[in-house]
Amino acid sequence: MDIVLGLQWGDEGKGKFIDLISENYDIAARFNGGSNAGHSIERNGKRITLKMIPSGIFMQGVQNVIGTGTVLDPVSFKNEILNLKKFDETLQPENNLIISKKAHFVLPTYRLMDVFMEENPAYTTIGTTKNGIAQAYSNKILRQNVRIGDMYAPDFQERVQHILERDYSFMAGEDMLIPPLEEISKEFFEAVEFLKQFNCTETELLLNKALIEGKTILGEGSQATLLDIDHGTYPYVTSSSTIASGACSGLGISPKKIGEIYGIAKAYCTRVGNGIFPTELFDEMGEEIRIKGNEFGSNTGRPRRTGWLDLPALRYAVMINGITQLVLTKADVLSGLKSVAVCTHYELEDGSVEATAGTLPENARPIFKWLEGWNADFSVIKDPSALPEELMNFLSFLEQEMGVPVTYLSIGPGREEILKMK
Ligand code: IMP
Repeated sequence: MDIVLGLQWGDEGKGKFIDLISENYDIAARFNGGSNAGHSIERNGKRITLKMIPSGIFMQGVQNVIGTGTVLDPVSFKNEILNLKKFDETLQPENNLIISKKAHFVLPTYRLMDVFMEENPAYTTIGTTKNGIAQAYSNKILRQNVRIGDMYAPDFQERVQHILERDYSFMAGEDMLIPPLEEISKEFFEAVEFLKQFNCTETELLLNKALIEGKTILGEGSQATLLDIDHGTYPYVTSSSTIASGACSGLGISPKKIGEIYGIAKAYCTRVGNGIFPTELFDEMGEEIRIKGNEFGSNTGRPRRTGWLDLPALRYAVMINGITQLVLTKADVLSGLKSVAVCTHYELEDGSVEATAGTLPENARPIFKWLEGWNADFSVIKDPSALPEELMNFLSFLEQEMGVPVTYLSIGPGREEILKMK
């Protein structure tokens, strides 16, 4: 199994890279997260954002798996499938999308609970996507949740109803607009019926059997390393395991079976939601990158925070995941700048200097190195030999700092605008 994952705070352009390589695999499998993800993909000049559905869905002959480590909101999933079919009428996702029986449900009250916790001063405001992700994972850990396989049980409706009523009584009396319980539960159970047309099975068995038969699997991460529940910038993280080892637990595949681990990073940094961001730009440069890079959340539409590339954070992400190949995206966004900055170290409050990030140190002051900028019309570049020298120097510097080769370079939003470097 090979793995693709993000090395920063998400939105590194994973969707496009996965779209490029997934045709080389027999199976594309999502291992974490839920409809908080937004993987943008371009097809025939149109764009679609996939949330739960692996991007191999567009490839003839690729089997797609929503794995055990994910959480699935059937209402959002139904909308996503209907939207996908509208986008491309030739697709028949019922035939090549398989869902783990052990993946957990996101119940309709979980979104409401996300809003409740974000707006209630008794809780830390995380800046979540309000998709109920944390509620689903915390109910899973509390062992109070329902799983996809439970939808076939005779008491499923009763068990769900019990959780919904429990959440409603928790929120009762709060100054919050809540739709009638009957409304959300009707919508939920209708979506569960829709879900039943998909093959929901023991995906661990299927995936391991496929490996024995010599088939290839691509593990697709969502969110990214610095949003990992254990190794990210806690508490401003998501609630799942976003890193390479999460692919093993989320899919039920042994670490011995991992081959390449592709790490996707932007040539700069962005972040949505709250939390530490040492290289954040608050000036016109930050705004310029936001506009040029179209840095607005594909899931929530929120403007993304922008900043220079953070090498200690990237080095940490490379280490945690054991990255074997780097994929650098959005180098074109920085085109035209006289010089570009990268953070090489942090200066800490006590005056000491730190060149690696465990968790990013609070109040860390970034120390920047300025490199020569590049300028090119990337729309006409089809080969690495045509790349500006300054960008090649930037890539060499990055490879030296990370100890990992940059094997792909994305130079524009289009599907074809990605160069194989090695
Ligand atoms: P949650 O995953 O909705 O609970 O949100 C937790 C944090 O993760 C927030 O800062 C979100 O903005 C961030 N987040 C969740 N999913 C994504 C993603 O796919 N891309 C970027 N940030 C995300």
